[in-house]
Amino acid sequence: MILIKGGTLITASETFEADILIDGEKIREIGRDLRADGAETVDARGKYVLPGGVDPHTHFDLEMFNTVSSDDHYTGHKAAAFGGTTTVIDFVVHEAQGFRYSVERWFEKAEKAAIDYSFHMNLTHFNEDVARELPSLVEMGITSIKVFMAYNGRLRLSDGAIFQAMRIAKEHGMLTMLHAENGDVIEVLVAEALRAGHTEPVWHARTRPGWGAVEAALRGFALAAESGAPLYLVHMNMAGEVDMLEYARRRGLPVMGETCPQYLFFTEEDLLRPDGAKWICSPPMRSKADNARLWEGLKQGVLQTIGTDHCPFFYDGTKPILYEGQEVAIPGKELGKDDFTKIPNGLPGVQDRMPVLWTEGVVKGRLTPNQFVAYTSTNPARIFGLYPRKGALVPGADADIVIWDPNRRVTYGVALSHQRTDYNLYEGWELTGYPEKVFLRGNLIVDGEKWLGRRGMGRFLKRGEGEVL
Ligand code: URP
Ligand code: ZN
Ligand code: ZN
Repeated sequence: MILIKGGTLITASETFEADILIDGEKIREIGRDLRADGAETVDARGKYVLPGGVDPHTHFDLEMFNTVSSDDHYTGHKAAAFGGTTTVIDFVVHEAQGFRYSVERWFEKAEKAAIDYSFHMNLTHFNEDVARELPSLVEMGITSIKVFMAYNGRLRLSDGAIFQAMRIAKEHGMLTMLHAENGDVIEVLVAEALRAGHTEPVWHARTRPGWGAVEAALRGFALAAESGAPLYLVHMNMAGEVDMLEYARRRGLPVMGETCPQYLFFTEEDLLRPDGAKWICSPPMRSKADNARLWEGLKQGVLQTIGTDHCPFFYDGTKPILYEGQEVAIPGKELGKDDFTKIPNGLPGVQDRMPVLWTEGVVKGRLTPNQFVAYTSTNPARIFGLYPRKGALVPGADADIVIWDPNRRVTYGVALSHQRTDYNLYEGWELTGYPEKVFLRGNLIVDGEKWLGRRGMGRFLKRGEGEVL
């Protein structure tokens, strides 16, 4: 047994002083002045105690753009843990051979899991067979599907297919997640840009218009209204999307939204830098006004979660980095040095999320500590059917616990990051407040800068029906 003594507990709704008694993998008791004979005591006086983070949006070991995302289900999990996240939900690619085959492939990739994990299913094609097979995902514990209104010819589904998938999802207690951009307009603009000889990273943003995301979000909400199916808008980057979400929620629609740290801090201007490829992801960064409206949407509770869309690539994959003493080089952003459409889309962030948001959100007064916990842990757990096993500090919950040192100051960047890539978006940022100890089901896996976790110790989480928040 482990007794965490004297900390200030922060949950999604309360802040209070209490001790936590961990018995094996579970929280046994929470209260003042707890005693337990023989328990190992952890002194948390002057520290905050939070439920482990739940990142609802990661892409580990994902083959795309003639390469693969550079964190796998071990390195990405380890990085997540150092940032205070103990559960991740990754996206399975839906292959022509069907759901079971696709999920098996992801289980093989995740054999090295170091924290607990679950899967969403990316729906990349739709027909009668897929419709018939969809409910089998629930038996596998996968109760969420992602559909795409962009990536024509690859992942894009027609509105009709999305509508049908949403109806089936609703009938079987599953949540539909939407990538909202206008695929047709993107296709036209990309072809025009390439014909005109534009090769630079900023054309990635210029060919993916923000209004396309806004109208696609509203289109998705209209499908939710017509089908009655809940919808979760992933990686929101536009002020207009927040407005649409607010509009739809005010009218009682079962719709929810996620943003990611990159959309709160960066803009299209970053793509104009000489190393602008580092900021390429889909959807792209927008403007300062969009950053501000997203922060406002979080403060007002219009949005429900902050995920990462962690999908890292090397900036220069021709030069190896050292990871756990081994040289590693994985082709990355340099693949698109002569053509912006060949720059792998995606960014690192799974470790950065909580430390960066604590300083920029809580310390700077944009979020309350309880909102921080709600957005990074409790709400994703509730929405995706993991609560109260995850995302909660209550007796009976998994003992996924972060002891957070509010006074620790760090200069953040690659030197502190365990993300397996050669750059960090927050290089040189001064952070105040950082995870000190991280427990996964009662096991201490991060102790300061020490890694005590292991490959294979992460468990697959079969999920049930989630809540509409
Ligand atoms: O650029 C990104 N985000 N890559 C991952 C794919 C997606 O649409 O989430
Ligand atoms: Zn997406
Ligand atoms: Zn994604």
